[in-house]
Amino acid sequence: MLETPGNIEYSQKVLEHFSNPHNVGEIPDADGIGNVGNPICGDVMRLYIKVKDDKIIDAKFKTFGCGAAIATSSMVTDLVKGKRVDEALQISNKAVAEALGGLPKIKMHCSVLAEEALRSAIEDYKKKTTK
Ligand code: FES
Repeated sequence: MLETPGNIEYSQKVLEHFSNPHNVGEIPDADGIGNVGNPICGDVMRLYIKVKDDKIIDAKFKTFGCGAAIATSSMVTDLVKGKRVDEALQISNKAVAEALGGLPKIKMHCSVLAEEALRSAIEDYKKKTTK
């Protein structure tokens, strides 16, 4: 746990994923791209997925945002890899936060951004494939 001056405690896992995020970058030939933003803090997240035979075989992200947004982006991209598209849709922001060992209450909205980015990428994938 890291305690900050504002008494916000971050788990070790959040700190690890913030300092060394997994799956950063873009997928040039992505099958789905999700773009979301939080109008209050102004943070934005872009999530790319590559799908083969209905399975997410790769996921990457670019996030311009707070530490919790980066850690949740890193975790959500880890969690979706290898999952079927319908399974990935079940991943909630709470599941992402739990996988990170929890988030401070005032940072839970950052995990919502990760869930929304994933949903938006899957919607984009579905739009492209159901033409
Ligand atoms: Fe904006 Fe975390 S403060 S997503």
